[in-house]
Amino acid sequence: MNIEKRQNLAERSDFKDDAQLQSVLLDNAEEFIELEILYNSGIREIMTKLEILDNEFKVRFKRNPIHHMECRLKNPLSILQKLRRRGYELSVNSAKTNLTDLAGVRVICNYIDDIYVISDLLCAQDDVSLVKITDYIKSPKANGYRSLHIVVNAPVYLNEGKKYVPVEIQIRTIAMDFWASLEHQIHYKGVECIPDQLTQKLKECAENIASIDVEMQNIDIELKEIIKAANKL
Ligand code: GTP
Ligand code: MG
Repeated sequence: MNIEKRQNLAERSDFKDDAQLQSVLLDNAEEFIELEILYNSGIREIMTKLEILDNEFKVRFKRNPIHHMECRLKNPLSILQKLRRRGYELSVNSAKTNLTDLAGVRVICNYIDDIYVISDLLCAQDDVSLVKITDYIKSPKANGYRSLHIVVNAPVYLNEGKKYVPVEIQIRTIAMDFWASLEHQIHYKGVECIPDQLTQKLKECAENIASIDVEMQNIDIELKEIIKAANKL
């Protein structure tokens, strides 16, 4: 990698205050760039697979299970900070071995059932394998957070052959995403400790939202039955 590129990486303001991480980044700059290419490809593979499934649904069943998708690649600073927090060696190899959320895709679905349809169809593909599943919908977190988290190995085809890249996929409804986004923002408002009564209110909001999700799902099921009956006439 050229010197200019190395300097750009090292001079990024988010690294400036942290001499240890800055030096690890400089020593591993080339590997970090390669990691970025590989894991970005993993993200693109997964998003393409999901878009294909969504398009097929549109044609076959006249509806889209996916409302929209977002993605992010963990930046070198966050990678090194997480490794250090967890007491792992600070290197690209260590990140590949110990972290499964370097590549992240968030899938926002219309209905709860869509979450499981999308997850099952993706994991059933023969070049995708499920590494880990955490169902925060069936077992919500204590604060009320709901989402299905899966980590899958995605195939990436390179000159040297096929490589598998872990991609963390968070799948949730629009309503669950609305809550998670606002809850996330609240934690970045600079309040050191959120008072208990606000934590409780947030949890209640999550529960209300969850019951609205169930109602919307039921409306959809009833509508489908009405349409089916009408088509039989
Ligand atoms: P991380 O160190 O954050 O990766 O935690 P983890 O390895 O235990 O994984 P977990 O599945 O609990 O969380 C991974 C990601 O899910 C987080 O980085 C967030 O994007 C999201 N997430 C998990 N819990 C919450 C939560 O309580 N609120 C919000 N808004 N997002 C959450
Ligand atoms: Mg994470």
